[in-house]
Amino acid sequence: MSFVLVTAKLPQSALSLLGDVEIRTIEGTKDRARFIDAARGASALMTMVTDRVDDELLDAAGASLKIVANVAVGYDNLDVPAIKAHGVTATNTPGVLTGAVAEFTWAMIFAITRRIGEAERLVRGGGWKGWGFDFLTGTELSGKQLGIIGAGRIGRDVARRAAAFEMDVVFGGRSAGGEVDGHPVRAVDDVLRTADIVSIHTPLNDGTRHLIDERAIGLMKPTAYLINTARGPVVDEAALAEALKARRIAGAALDVFEREPEVHPTLLELDNAVLLPHLGSATVETRTAMAELAAKNVAAVLAGRPPLTPL
Ligand code: DGY
Repeated sequence: MSFVLVTAKLPQSALSLLGDVEIRTIEGTKDRARFIDAARGASALMTMVTDRVDDELLDAAGASLKIVANVAVGYDNLDVPAIKAHGVTATNTPGVLTGAVAEFTWAMIFAITRRIGEAERLVRGGGWKGWGFDFLTGTELSGKQLGIIGAGRIGRDVARRAAAFEMDVVFGGRSAGGEVDGHPVRAVDDVLRTADIVSIHTPLNDGTRHLIDERAIGLMKPTAYLINTARGPVVDEAALAEALKARRIAGAALDVFEREPEVHPTLLELDNAVLLPHLGSATVETRTAMAELAAKNVAAVLAGRPPLTPL
């Protein structure tokens, strides 16, 4: 009897959408051998960003496998060509997490420009000696330029919210020219040169891996901040750590890292870095919606219908 393998504890509202099917849950797939073993004979896999799905896993799952439903919008953890070569459908969860990630991006922008993490650490550490005229002064957003690398759903939603903070928005794209939602699109290098805040909203792929490397960081203004809620490997973490340490840019707020959950040791020592544990989509509402969308994809494919959000 075939079953759906789920690699995290998902809300009942999502699991009930799977209908009359056996559901097996393993929490986490760090133990690769256990994951592979658990996948044998599955008709569907509901995977998280931390689960690698490749030929080895697909071979183990075998011919019963119909769908890999990633409970995430990013899918760099899936070998999509291999999934397709096995005749299996792959899906992700676009749309439902856009607002949560955009809100979180703004939280990170405020955290780094107004030194919120640094200030909180100081108070908790007993280091606050009282009000001071130039004590922990930050940077205002009004009238500054927000450079958004990537004009997909999330980048555009971050841009939409910029009006509330009176910022000018420019998008950085592969090909410069034209407008997105009334904002100019410029070459990434030009955005890096002019933006006061650079926020990354690209998927991770061969074209974006280390897009922000030493050379790119070198183009940024010494007063500029880098925000990354996309994927860690889009930024060369070692190069960024060096640049922050040398104060070649003002600061960075990172929600994603090259080798999660590891963080470059230099970053851990720096007050001009806000470091967060991959929380962009982490609201109850959004995580529920992601799980429900993934479950709908599974139910559709197992019933012989097209998935809602195929890759
Ligand atoms: C995504 O959906 O890609 C997020 O990174 C997971 O939280």
